Amino acid sequence: MNQSEFAKRRKRIAKTMGKGSIAILPAAPPVTRNSDVEYRYRPDSDFYYLTGFSEPHSVCVIAPNNKHGEYLLFCRERDPQMETWTGPRAGLEDAKAFYGADDAFPINDIDNILPRLLENCDRIYYTLGHDATFDQRVIGWVQQIKKQSRAGIKTPREFIALEHLLHEMRLFKSPAEIAVMRKAAKISAQAHIRAMKTCKPGLNECEIEAEILHHFNCNACTEAYPSIVGGGANGCILHYIENNRPLNEGDLLLIDAGAETQCYASDITRTFPVNGRFNNAQKDIYNVVLDAQLAAIEQVKPGNYWNAPHDAAVKSLTKGLIKLGLLKGTLSQLIKNKAYSRFYMHRTGHWLGMDVHDVGDYKLDNRWRLLEPGMVLTVEPGLYIPAGSRKVAKRWWNIGIRIEDDVLVTKNGHEVLSKHAPKTVVDIETMMASNETS
Ligand code: GLY
Ligand code: MN
Ligand code: MN
Repeated sequence: MNQSEFAKRRKRIAKTMGKGSIAILPAAPPVTRNSDVEYRYRPDSDFYYLTGFSEPHSVCVIAPNNKHGEYLLFCRERDPQMETWTGPRAGLEDAKAFYGADDAFPINDIDNILPRLLENCDRIYYTLGHDATFDQRVIGWVQQIKKQSRAGIKTPREFIALEHLLHEMRLFKSPAEIAVMRKAAKISAQAHIRAMKTCKPGLNECEIEAEILHHFNCNACTEAYPSIVGGGANGCILHYIENNRPLNEGDLLLIDAGAETQCYASDITRTFPVNGRFNNAQKDIYNVVLDAQLAAIEQVKPGNYWNAPHDAAVKSLTKGLIKLGLLKGTLSQLIKNKAYSRFYMHRTGHWLGMDVHDVGDYKLDNRWRLLEPGMVLTVEPGLYIPAGSRKVAKRWWNIGIRIEDDVLVTKNGHEVLSKHAPKTVVDIETMMASNETS
């Protein structure tokens, strides 16, 4: 993404904060996996959103009207010896020249420099409760200034949650963000196609997961979240990530996997038969879920409430379950009593962006908010019928189906970003039978 995109965001937030404000945003600390091994570093989404800078041990400061510059970046200095171990660092020079900081300072000097920047500010925009260690440091800096009150130095009076401003901005995706999300969705769709083509009875779930990861990695992507690759009964476990059981003839395979690129996620679920052909019971349930998903996607347009897709999915699923004899009663009564929740126990979607469950309020003034162009959400109804379900004929057992797409709200309706992943019975069966590569 072009550096000008990040600069634009900083300008916007500075303008909203106004004079007399300062925002402090630390980079995510590295996280230990075990012993002296760290997880691969993933920048904090808020920090990256404003900086495009992906080095740990950095702090972004936005100080509108500060005479030393509006965007200040604290980061590690160049260190040839350390860079031999952990790779090149931007250093203070590139923090300014490449990343657009008005000024840059060594992270090791922050305790001396930051309190001086807080002097005579009225408001500190900071997200408390995210990083307890850093919270203590911020409080310490404020206390340091308080001690100078007799010297006429004013202490900031207000702490304001930075995340509210930032998250409202992040909810609306710019054309540059949409382009990246389109790419993430396309690569993920290709990975699902690869999984469909590889799948056959006798393979293990881990082998299919490997195909997906292979495609992500070959396209310079990571997983946006741990992939779910659940065959048969495992498809009915919503957060199944063991992915280590054999795939059996006659079972379905549910895959929920999405790639992340440039810190933007996709989130796609497809469910298909291990042997390439749906049996009648599977087809029946599949089409109920597909109809519900299409009905829900139809509701994604500006002016509709956030909940409209969910309501449409619930109505359509309940209708389908009545038709198949899995629910008995009138449509309105069954919806009112949430009778469907036995088979459909989650909601129909969430915001999608830099985080898979992205930021942004779902309600405003206690009412579902209206959909607006630039928002991206998932639409992911499902039905899950574990073995042993009471008063459910055996032919439905161990059918777990979810169909999930990533949908952008456009000016006139919507665009399905993940449209390249097949989802009708015919398209899936055709894809699984064909030898074409994706
Ligand atoms: N993959 C997480 C979700 O679908 O919400
Ligand atoms: Mn999702
Ligand atoms: Mn998902």
